[in-house]
Amino acid sequence: MTPPGKPSALIDTRVVYCGDNLEQLTKLPDECVDLIYIDPPFNSNRNYEVFWGEKKELRSFDDRHESTQAYIDFMRPRCVELARVLKKTGSFYYHCDWHASHYVKVMLDQILGEEKFINEIIWKRQSAHNDAKQGSKHLGRVHDSIFLYSGGGDYYFKHLYTPYNAEYIEKFYKNVEPETGRRYQLGDLGAPGGAAPSKGNPHYEFLGVTRYWRYSKENMQKLYEEGLIVQAKPGAVPRFKRYLDEGKGVPLGSVWDDIGPVQGQATERLGYPTQKPLKLLERIIEISSQPNDIVLDAFCGCGTALVAAQNLGRQWIGIDISPTSCVVMAKRLRDICKLREGEHQRLRGKGFMVRELPTTEKQLRELPPFEFENWAVLALGGIKNKAQVGDMGIDGRIFPVGSGPETSGKDAGELDFMDEWYPVQVKQKEKAGRPDIDNFEAAMMRAKRKRGYFVSFGFTGDAIDEIRRFKREENIHIIPVTVEEILDGSVIDKLI
Ligand SMILES: C[S@@+](CC[C@H](N)C(=O)[O-])C[C@H]1O[C@@H](n2cnc3c(N)ncnc32)[C@H](O)[C@@H]1O
Repeated sequence: MTPPGKPSALIDTRVVYCGDNLEQLTKLPDECVDLIYIDPPFNSNRNYEVFWGEKKELRSFDDRHESTQAYIDFMRPRCVELARVLKKTGSFYYHCDWHASHYVKVMLDQILGEEKFINEIIWKRQSAHNDAKQGSKHLGRVHDSIFLYSGGGDYYFKHLYTPYNAEYIEKFYKNVEPETGRRYQLGDLGAPGGAAPSKGNPHYEFLGVTRYWRYSKENMQKLYEEGLIVQAKPGAVPRFKRYLDEGKGVPLGSVWDDIGPVQGQATERLGYPTQKPLKLLERIIEISSQPNDIVLDAFCGCGTALVAAQNLGRQWIGIDISPTSCVVMAKRLRDICKLREGEHQRLRGKGFMVRELPTTEKQLRELPPFEFENWAVLALGGIKNKAQVGDMGIDGRIFPVGSGPETSGKDAGELDFMDEWYPVQVKQKEKAGRPDIDNFEAAMMRAKRKRGYFVSFGFTGDAIDEIRRFKREENIHIIPVTVEEILDGSVIDKLI
C-alpha cells in the first residue's frame, strides 16, 4: 500500500460528510478535485420510492417515464455542483444502468459539454441475471454504464493493460521455446510501409534476404547473436521473437468484463446492498488520477471509492446522506486502511474524520420525532414513507437487493421486485413495549409482510417475548434494532 501523504493544504481531505450532497457540495470551492466518481441510487437499487412517492399501483410506461424524469430532476442540480468543483484537468465518472443511462448522458452533455465526453464504459457486472428467465421477453440486463467526461482541460489519463486470455495466447503466441518453455510470436523485421518504406530505412542483405529493414545492419546482427532473430529455413525472411512474458497485455478497452460483482463470499463484502468491487474503483482511480490527487465520491455508500483512493495513495472526500453508510465506511477505513479516526490524526496524514454525523444517543433523543423517524429509516438504508399520517403503522420500507420478482410468467415485469420490501417502524422511546409491537404486527399482517424492522432506543422484556412468539406461531420475523446498534454499525449484521 502506498504510504498516505499529508492531507491537502487547500481543502480538507480524508473527510466523510454525512448529509445531502447538494448541501455539502456548496462547502467546496470551485475547481478543487481531480477525480469525481458517483454511483447514485436509482430504481435498480430498490430506492424507487424516493422518486415515486407513495404510488404502489401497477406502473405503466408513463409512470416509468415520470420516474426517470424525477431521477434526472434530482440529479441535475447535484451534477451542476459536481461540475463546479471539478478541476479543468480532472475527470468525472458517472455510474448508472439501463434505467436512465441515456437520459443521464444527455443531462451530462448539457451540464459538462458534449465535447468533454470521453467514453462510455460497459461494466459487465454479472454473466446471468434472473430478470431474464422463462416467460420474460428481454435479454438479461447484465451490464452497467459508466460515463467518463473530462473537466475540459489537459486531463490526466493512464492506459492500462489486461492479461492476454488463453484463446489469444493459443492463436498469437503458438511457438514455445524448447529450452525455456517461453511462448513467443514472430514479428516482422521489415521497414514500416512495406514495399514503399518511409525515407531513411536501411536497405541491405541479411541472412540471404535483401530488402528494406527496420533496424541497422549492426543492430540486426546483435539481435541475431542474442538469439532473438530466427529464420525458418535458408532463404526465408528472418523474423523477430516477441516473448509473451515481455508483452504489456491487451490495451484496456471500453468493455470491462474481467471484474465480477462483490459476491456473497468475498472478503471485501460488507453486506451493503449496492457495494461496488474495489477492483473496479481502483481501476478508475488508476486511469484518471495520480498519487496525492483528490478523489471525490458524493454518493459514497460503504466507501469503496475512498478505500480504493486510500490504497492508491490519493487524497479523498466522501459524502453520503445515510448515517449507517457513514458508520460502516468509517469502520472499513479503520479496519482495512488502518486509518485512525480523529482530527489530530487526520492532520498528521494518518487518520480521517466523519463530519456532521448524529453521533450520540443524546442528540438523537432531542431530534423532533419526524426527524428521528427519518434518520432511523435512512440509517437502515430504507425509504421513508411520505405520508406522515395514515401510514398504517409503517414508517418506511427497505427494499432487499438480490431478491427476484415474486411473480413470474407473463404477468411478471421488471418492476415486480418492488413487491418485495420489509416494513420499518420507528419509536423514539426509551423502551418500545408490547402494545407497540402488537400494532406493528397488525400492520405487517395487513401488508402481508414476512420480515420487518422495529427501531427504538430499547425494548421491554414483554416486547421481546412477543416478537419471539410472533415468529414461532405466525412465522413472521420482527427484527428489533436499537439506536445504539445503528450508531456503532453492528446493525449491518441484521440487515443481511
Ligand atoms: C448506490 S449507493 C453507492 C454505493 C457505493 N458506490 C459503494 O460501492 O459502496 C448510493 C448511495 O448514495 C447515498 N445517497 C442517496 N442520496 C444521497 C444524497 N442526496 N446525498 C448524499 N448521498 C446520497 C445513499 O445513502 C447510498 O449510500
